[in-house]
Amino acid sequence: MNVYDSARMADVLAPLGYSVTGTVEDADLVILNTCHIREKAGEKVYSELGRLRPLKAERQAGGGDLLLAVAGCVAQAEGAEVVRRAPHVDIVVGPQSYHQLPELIARATRAASAPGPGRGIVATDFPVEPKFDALPQQTEAQDVSVFLAVQEGCDKFCTFCVVPYTRGAEYSRPAADIVAEARRLVALGAREITLLGQNVNAWHGEGAGGGGEWGLGRLVRALADGVPGLARIRYTTSHPRDMDDDLVAAHGDVPQLMPFLHLPVQSGSDRVLARMNRRHTAEQYDRIVERLRRARPDIALSSDFIVGYPGETDADFAQTLALIARTGFAQAFSFKYSPRPGTPAAAEERQVDEAVKSDRLAAVQDLLRRQQDDFNRATIGRCVPVLFEKPGRHADQLIGRTPWLQSVHATGHPRLIGAEVEVEIVGAGPNSLAGRIVTRDAAPLPGIGAAA
Ligand code: 5AD
Ligand code: SF4
Repeated sequence: MNVYDSARMADVLAPLGYSVTGTVEDADLVILNTCHIREKAGEKVYSELGRLRPLKAERQAGGGDLLLAVAGCVAQAEGAEVVRRAPHVDIVVGPQSYHQLPELIARATRAASAPGPGRGIVATDFPVEPKFDALPQQTEAQDVSVFLAVQEGCDKFCTFCVVPYTRGAEYSRPAADIVAEARRLVALGAREITLLGQNVNAWHGEGAGGGGEWGLGRLVRALADGVPGLARIRYTTSHPRDMDDDLVAAHGDVPQLMPFLHLPVQSGSDRVLARMNRRHTAEQYDRIVERLRRARPDIALSSDFIVGYPGETDADFAQTLALIARTGFAQAFSFKYSPRPGTPAAAEERQVDEAVKSDRLAAVQDLLRRQQDDFNRATIGRCVPVLFEKPGRHADQLIGRTPWLQSVHATGHPRLIGAEVEVEIVGAGPNSLAGRIVTRDAAPLPGIGAAA
């Protein structure tokens, strides 16, 4: 979501003459788009701000300036505290206020040229108008694979999580706007769209052109049927409670919907799940996986796991390992529980020892890594459709993805970028696959790339 938001900030600032630079040294304005989900992410902001301070001082000593803005969820959660800890910050702007950036920059610039204090402008309100309506349309030259935000915020209030506080209440964009934006993105060159939301499968809305209330499954069908040229659809991140029958069925009926799902479960212990306020059991998660696999037998699963949630015992943790073992994940993310200020779990007394958390994380990651290796190795020798997205590091090398989100590199002509091509997988590493293009398209154009 932050990658998407950063692109929206660039869009909102383009009319003012700003464009994205390759390095901080070339910038007149630096925006740190921050994450507050775990403590480590939050603390990174301050070390980065510390690194930027001498650069700003140097500019000012030379009669110039460097505007510094802190955006994202740290900005939202900490507000004026950011300026207190880092007084050289000019603007603190929360995720719901990016459309105000032009005005905030104008104010900061005025304050900078006037004597006395006045910078450290803080904008962290939750505005009445939805941010989606206030931001400009995406207009930049597009990538092959793009994000499209359909939903923001969360009403689930898992006890460990800051998102409901930093991103606010669940809001779904109207279906008609989403379909229109998808058409525009495809016209600009996109072939794959990933629908984004903190709780994306909670998306709901009035159907485009009537037809009552839609859920995400219906929206996926509308995009598949109504956006010619859109080859692949994905969505992230989902909550198990919102995996309704229609969405599961869409995985079986909609060829453009890719057979990959990131479905965080957090823990395999019902006791921990209940205390986390996840409002589902491990068995209910198993049933969802069964339904998904019945609809789409080759679906690959990903998940998030938290180890060392307050009060988590060895027996609870063993149930997390058991859930991973019986499910089989193609990839997953795992984290030590990190107490977040203001969340209920942070106030719990039975915090788990750091050393225990480290041991459990190592065990979970070891099992997940083995599953990922097995999953990747199982593709060796198979021919799979790869959507090429960009050139690789070597001449004539292309980078793309399989339907199961594995990264693939292969030798091929750059004109194949944006094409879905049959590729034979010839090697598998922990994070990517090596492939050989097997269609006629593989032949390089005369005189180009033939030497390889
Ligand atoms: N500590 C550790 N991990 C967390 N996550 C969210 N909050 C915390 C926390 N306080 C993880 C969850 C979530 C992912 C985005 O981050 O696993 O799914
Ligand atoms: Fe956080 Fe996800 Fe729970 Fe919402 S559903 S509170 S975003 S972990």
